[in-house]
Amino acid sequence: MEPYRIKVVEPIPITTRDYRERVYAAGGYNQFNLTADDVTIDLLSDSGTGALSAEQQAAGMRGDETYAGARSWFRFREVCADLTGYEHIFPVHQGRAAERILFSALLKPGQISVSNTHFDTTRANVEIVGAVARDLPSPEAADLDSDAPFKGNIDLVALEEVLAGPEDVGLVLMTITNNGGGGQPVSLENLAATSALCRKHGVPFILDAARFAENAWLVTQREDRYRFHSPREVAKLAFRLADGCVLSLKKDGIVHIGGLLALNDVELAKRCELLLIATEGFRTYGGLSGRDLDMCAQGLLEVTDPMYLRERAEATAYLADCAREAGVDSVRPAGLHAVYLNAARLLPHIPSSRFTGHALASELYLAGGIRCAELGSLYLGEIDEAGVLHKPAPFELVRLAIPRRVYTRSHLDYVAETLAGIAKNPEQVPGYRLVEAPVMLRPFRCRLEQVREN
Ligand code: F0G
Repeated sequence: MEPYRIKVVEPIPITTRDYRERVYAAGGYNQFNLTADDVTIDLLSDSGTGALSAEQQAAGMRGDETYAGARSWFRFREVCADLTGYEHIFPVHQGRAAERILFSALLKPGQISVSNTHFDTTRANVEIVGAVARDLPSPEAADLDSDAPFKGNIDLVALEEVLAGPEDVGLVLMTITNNGGGGQPVSLENLAATSALCRKHGVPFILDAARFAENAWLVTQREDRYRFHSPREVAKLAFRLADGCVLSLKKDGIVHIGGLLALNDVELAKRCELLLIATEGFRTYGGLSGRDLDMCAQGLLEVTDPMYLRERAEATAYLADCAREAGVDSVRPAGLHAVYLNAARLLPHIPSSRFTGHALASELYLAGGIRCAELGSLYLGEIDEAGVLHKPAPFELVRLAIPRRVYTRSHLDYVAETLAGIAKNPEQVPGYRLVEAPVMLRPFRCRLEQVREN
């Protein structure tokens, strides 16, 4: 059961299928054009969508809004320094601000950033400074159905080849957990081996640690050596294998806004501090209010609670199991922050050119008012301005992201029942065609229409 009870409630909109058909069509069948009032269960993102605890609210009241050197800053710094062990702690307004500042200070045009998988804003920030983002996921990640425990790992053989090769590698970035790769964890063994390779080749090793606590929980469950460690101990070990981190506190900080850039290297930190002050805010607040800093610090203490992490893991696995029983497969084994549905397997009559993942995501909205994110050809495929798909994504997935401490098991039952309804008559689900297909940031801006014959 959830190791907390509910003190504040917020009604959720209950709508009819007729209503949803109308608003979804009016918004060009793009889920980003739906509003909060249109959505019953919102699984679009686990970012900034969590529920604050009573202690976080109380911490917010203690927030000190002094411009420089606020008491909130010292509390924030203490928690971050203890958790990560890094010398230089910079608050920022969210994860991508940390990425922008770090890559601007560290990467030169033409250099390569190597990762298990870059998240999309991370890739964009690498490319904006003229560097190249290269993903080297473990080969195990390609098998969606296998129960391999650490499908988020980086491919160490490929990494060594790149590091020993002629190319100029500017940094190695490990995303824990691997959001682009099905929310799968990275083992401490893989982190340690990566760390050793980076040291050997003199390349900075940085963690994208947005879901560091969830990764740590999965390490305690799946990596034998750490069975008797607490998630916090594992998280501390992980941070200490790297030279710094970028961290969106909107995930495992359980806050609505916030981020962290933390580094050991003093020269690099000085360059980052300059960019921080020029673009985010003075180094003791970095674009956050005092109350945000205090709520972040408290969230970082709460998120490694084993009771909380266990329930979250079990709730996500429960949703994945219910879906599978209903005939909807997802990427195995289940992680914590999301269930990644395998739309291609459920809807074989819809080819990638008719956006299989988008078709399932759309049906979830139309049938149940459930909003989620497509991670298939609409998002990752190569598409021209006329909306024609030239290269499909490797998988047609749909991500059901689970906000932290927000939905109960009965909400998850509702999601599972809606999926089961779709799985009874999958051939009823129509495909989609792009009618407006902007090349930049397409998923946020495109418009589509339904196509009954594929
Ligand atoms: N890194 C990872 C692994 C992420 O998942 C995200 C955001 C970011 C960096 C950027 O952080 O949003 O605070 O600027 N992921 C959200 C998601 C948007 O829905 O997965 P941000």
